[in-house]
Amino acid sequence: MKLLSTLLLTPLIASAISVNVPSSSDVSTYDADFPVPGSQPLNFCKDPKDYILEVHNVDLVPNPPVPGEKLTIKANGTFSEEIEEGATVFLQVRYGLITLIKQNADMCEQLPKIDIECPIKKGYMEVFKEVNIPRQVPPGKYTVLADVKTKDERAITCMEATIVFPR
Ligand SMILES: *[C@@H]1O[C@H](CO)[C@@H](O)[C@H](O)[C@H]1NC(C)=O
Repeated sequence: MKLLSTLLLTPLIASAISVNVPSSSDVSTYDADFPVPGSQPLNFCKDPKDYILEVHNVDLVPNPPVPGEKLTIKANGTFSEEIEEGATVFLQVRYGLITLIKQNADMCEQLPKIDIECPIKKGYMEVFKEVNIPRQVPPGKYTVLADVKTKDERAITCMEATIVFPR
């Protein structure tokens, strides 16, 4: 999903890093059995059949992202119902064993970053976005989890990815 793709880059841009000790509740539900269609390292957290957003395709160019280069995100999907104010995005980003980001955000407040506004209409949507990846991304293994839910906590989508920036 476009939202995830953009959020996924936020940690790389963020300069303020808070270090948390991981607890057992942080354990990822990673399941490679449900890859997100397209050219990127994303997997759905579980069988996406019941998700409100059906993702058709997500492409990252280049894949994987390269520090210091422009990244193009192209995505499309279909919402089976309208998404209203109150939807949330739980985002967790880890760098190795260090938790860089672990936060629950208001989805509608985040969407303008990718030129989308709430409410999101039922039906087909596509997103095209270009972002710059900072040159000074610390090399290493990043894991990202984004869990998107409606106000009444039904799953819109949930995705995870592991990205390694080589030294
Ligand atoms: C979604 O995008 C992919 C790749 O660009 C394209 O092949 C596909 O037809 C699109 N799906 C729909 C429903 O438009």
